[in-house]
Amino acid sequence: MTTIENLAGIPSAKELTLLANELFPDLVGDTAASTTAVPSAPTTLDTPDAVTNAAGGSEVVSSIPQGDNVNYASSEFDWEHPFAYGGASSEPWLNSVQIAENPYSEFLPDEKDLPNENPASVSYSPVVLSKTQAQENERKIDAPTSLGGDRVTNQSNIELPYSSRDESIRIGSKTLAQIRSDFPILSEKINGNPLVWLDNGATTQRPKAVIDRLSYYYEHENSNVHRGAHTLAARSTDAYENARNIVRDFIGASSSEEIVFVRGTTEAINLVANAYVKPTLEPGDEIIVSILEHHANIVPWQLIAQETGAVIKVIPCDETGQLILHEYEKLFTKRTKFVAVTHVSNVLGTVTPVEELVAIAHRHGVRILVDGAQSIAHIPVNVTALDTDFFVFSGHKIFAPTGIGVVYGKKELLESARPYHGGGNMIADVTFERTIYNAIPNKFEAGTGSIADAVGLGAALTYLSEIGMPCVFRWEHELLQYALKEMKSVKGITLVGTALNKASALAFKLDGYSDEEVGKRLDAYGIAVRTGHHCAQPVLRHFGYESVVRPTLAIYNSPDDIDALVKALKTFA
Ligand SMILES: Cc1ncc(COP(=O)(O)O)c(C=O)c1O
Repeated sequence: MTTIENLAGIPSAKELTLLANELFPDLVGDTAASTTAVPSAPTTLDTPDAVTNAAGGSEVVSSIPQGDNVNYASSEFDWEHPFAYGGASSEPWLNSVQIAENPYSEFLPDEKDLPNENPASVSYSPVVLSKTQAQENERKIDAPTSLGGDRVTNQSNIELPYSSRDESIRIGSKTLAQIRSDFPILSEKINGNPLVWLDNGATTQRPKAVIDRLSYYYEHENSNVHRGAHTLAARSTDAYENARNIVRDFIGASSSEEIVFVRGTTEAINLVANAYVKPTLEPGDEIIVSILEHHANIVPWQLIAQETGAVIKVIPCDETGQLILHEYEKLFTKRTKFVAVTHVSNVLGTVTPVEELVAIAHRHGVRILVDGAQSIAHIPVNVTALDTDFFVFSGHKIFAPTGIGVVYGKKELLESARPYHGGGNMIADVTFERTIYNAIPNKFEAGTGSIADAVGLGAALTYLSEIGMPCVFRWEHELLQYALKEMKSVKGITLVGTALNKASALAFKLDGYSDEEVGKRLDAYGIAVRTGHHCAQPVLRHFGYESVVRPTLAIYNSPDDIDALVKALKTFA
């Protein structure tokens, strides 16, 4: 008999299957269970038809680059599900769904390199261990990715001709040149070269509007919020609550009460896991996540699964890195209590079919959280039209400060959840006998939050709204297509993540070079990309890698940045 003790390291999927089969013979393998079963409250929804496909409202102003020298955008883009809010629009290109042949099929990994195991058939009873505990079990828990010893000296400018393209590229209300000049750090020189910031997946840069707003706050408004009769308390409270209203409007929530400020996506997911989901869990209950998840959308669920005896089930992806919807549907059983899934993979860039993921979860009476950390800066989101139960994101991924993030939750769900942290600000009245906590959203905002950073987040979202998110989306899509086309010409490159519907990420491997060496060589040209496991080890390992090089795009990246990347790669590839 397999026991949990001899699996106390990091067990393999096979070991877990074995264990799960032995422990839960009636649960495992029941993946094709009834699709009509509806779990009991509070995860039960009344009306499956509540999943609507409301029309997106924003109008595309204009984002098509003008002029011959920028005509790299194909007219045959895959506009499949371009916007999270889905639905009908008067713009014909918003409604067309092309089943195109994958243009990057030559980059697909060999089928023989992919594991045979179908994660959809596995339920994980996760064990979350300290390093010491894992070492005691003599298991390797961390695969080193650094080959070390790479020495790269600074490289001189690769002589990109100055291009006026940035002035002729219009993205909503601004030109690309104007947008670039809004971000002071883009004028930095790194190792003697202009900075090419392609590490947006890790964090984005801040526009002057955000930097100035923070200075203004500290120069004119700084005070603690909600607790003071004086003028500055009123100013800071107004600024903070106004930021909440801006977030509400930016993501299309119906009320500011549905917006909770937290430190970032990680804290947001932990909040939902502990305050809303954990109290509903019993041994054998199931939480569905996808194989694409960042560790922030895996470990919190493992922790509460371990504490309650729940199990984790995983939506598999196909060879391009897109989630397989029919396998997802098969995962639901009468024990399914919650789904947590990313909107955009932080490694592969896959844009997941969130409308369908939400609709299917609701059809089974199950609530769902969408991790918007990697979508929020790139794809227009309307949580009301999407009908997601929770949507979470970090400010620093969308040109706002670090230390601030958002939980959007439907009002009735936030109201039914327990408080997450206890302390000041979240209470209405305290005696030693009993405490009455505040209404939402303050119920979840114990202690002094990152007030200035919330205000900065408001400034970042206002900045983007003034440009127009649909135009941002469209511009980045074109830039991504250009980048993929250009990167194909680099000898020995393998793109990792080839889904048709992609955003921002351009992960790759380069023959003959460690990822770290590629990163260092690019840095010598002033080009910043991330290397490593990107906090998404399960999906990388699924594709047979421990690490990749990952450039990631954002609104201010120009075709020149792509050219610089490709030219730099070609100096050694
Ligand atoms: C998809 C995804 N989810 C969650 C996170 C965690 O975000 P944070 O570190 O801001 O909490 C990240 C960060 O890269 C991410 O890419």
